[in-house]
Amino acid sequence: MTAGLVSPLRTVPGSIARPDYAATGSPSSRQSRAIRTDAEIEAMRVAGRVAAEALIEVGRHVAPGVTTDELDRIGHDAMVAAGSYPSTLNYRGYPKSLCTSVNEIVCHGIPDSRRLRDGDIVNVDVTAFIEGVHGDTSATFLVGDVDAASRALVDTTRRAMHAGISVVAPQARIRDIGRAIESVALPAGYSIVREFIGHGIGDQFHTSLQIPHYYDPRNDTVLLAGMTFTVEPMVNVGAAGVTMWDDGWTVATADGQRTAQFEHTLLVTEDGHELLTLPAEGPPAEVLFAPEPVGADTPTP
Ligand code: MF3
Ligand code: CO
Ligand code: CO
Repeated sequence: MTAGLVSPLRTVPGSIARPDYAATGSPSSRQSRAIRTDAEIEAMRVAGRVAAEALIEVGRHVAPGVTTDELDRIGHDAMVAAGSYPSTLNYRGYPKSLCTSVNEIVCHGIPDSRRLRDGDIVNVDVTAFIEGVHGDTSATFLVGDVDAASRALVDTTRRAMHAGISVVAPQARIRDIGRAIESVALPAGYSIVREFIGHGIGDQFHTSLQIPHYYDPRNDTVLLAGMTFTVEPMVNVGAAGVTMWDDGWTVATADGQRTAQFEHTLLVTEDGHELLTLPAEGPPAEVLFAPEPVGADTPTP
């Protein structure tokens, strides 16, 4: 992958409420609470739904020949039409309304004039701010006809995310999430990125709560009902190492092999967890656009 041209900043109507960093690029460093109020949780269901529906809308337009800038416009327009601010816009100076990470790009790819090609895979990461809170979700989409190895990577990454989510409940520990993700990704021969991790989310885009996607026995923090955070594993075909482009944002695998990612925002409930980044109706993006099972295109004699 090489960088294309980045289009001018998109605007958000003045009637839409903005996060604290929208004008300056600098989020407040105030420590956010770990446990959400009932009102915040209700608002996060709204933000999560808006992000999930914008992600589906973008997914419908993923096809060979479409530029990632066009995907950004579609996601931007969907978020604005729903009354939300696209959280990434000017977050620490990030220039676009979502992230598009193609092939060997791990995360934070900047939408630009590059056209998607037949056989690419692209992660689209959408975060919406509305009612004072953020909802953050991503999926990796197939562009046209994708080779079996990449389809297997995408399928395993989605299953790894759900394995991590499945252990989330009060009294579980943060390290249980990474252990569950590893139990799916590592036996398949993949590696897991360590430099970028899941995060607490709520009135702030990223709170101090850290959710590694790998097992570390030191992560013994106990989960409590009312916590909200993301699970967003980045899974690599080759080695786990990453490198940063000189744009200061785009993260690529060090070995140039492909990588995939899925993300949901979730709430720890009294008896388990609730996915907050779901559409009002029907399945989420990762189900709607899931790859055909590997082997399904093998002609049967
Ligand atoms: N949505 C990304 C995440 O999952 C963060 C993107 S921040 C940006 O945490 F500035 F790179 F857009
Ligand atoms: Co995200
Ligand atoms: Co996130």
